[in-house]
Amino acid sequence: MNREVIRTGDFVSDAAKLILQEARAALAERGEFRIALSGGETPRAIYAEFGRLARDLPWEKVRFTFGDERCVPPADEQSNYRMARESLFEPSAVPERSILRMRGEIDPQLAAQEYEDELNLLATQHGETIYRHDLMLLGMGEDGHTASLFPGTLALDEQVRRVVSNFVPKLKSWRLTMTLPLLDQSRHVLFLISGAKNRELLERVLAGDTAFPAAHVAPANGQLTWMIGASA
Ligand code: 6PG
Repeated sequence: MNREVIRTGDFVSDAAKLILQEARAALAERGEFRIALSGGETPRAIYAEFGRLARDLPWEKVRFTFGDERCVPPADEQSNYRMARESLFEPSAVPERSILRMRGEIDPQLAAQEYEDELNLLATQHGETIYRHDLMLLGMGEDGHTASLFPGTLALDEQVRRVVSNFVPKLKSWRLTMTLPLLDQSRHVLFLISGAKNRELLERVLAGDTAFPAAHVAPANGQLTWMIGASA
């Protein structure tokens, strides 16, 4: 694993440019670009900027997946899909067939199994044993969670399943999430950390403190990049 930490005063612009750079490289090398989107609020402006920069991208050759999703309908304001639809899919006219949405509106266990089956089928169709993302976007919560791998929750320890449902006691709610085996299969993992994030937490995670789930992400045969916005 190769790790890079980038600190930037142009966080949104630099993040969008890096995503576009990865897209062009993947399309040139393999004729497709497999990107997993992270949720929350940090990525919203980045997705919008990426869409503005990527006007000429062949969206039909891009496959958008989601690292995690809240167990809510797609129109719910909590939905990560809705955030991506508003900031990127609609403004850039991304075709529905390029988007693999986690169905947060159905039973969590069924939704997780359905998503895992879809990814496994795509992997098999490409002669892969496990689906390999070109770019996995991740964020980090104030408790060090990433995707929906929260401290002390079962999904964090999952080493076999690729996508699971995960009950989060502190939120009193279910989530859908990719697991570490799938995250770590990525060619490139890009953490997007805004300047508003807790600096002490960030330094502890960068130092490898595995009390925090974000510190567990380690793409053995890939690149790990932390892009950090200048402190607010
Ligand atoms: C989610 C995200 C989650 C997010 C962090 C950081 O569904 O909430 O996938 O892992 O990346 O909570 O969120 P912010 O970037 O909005 O602080």
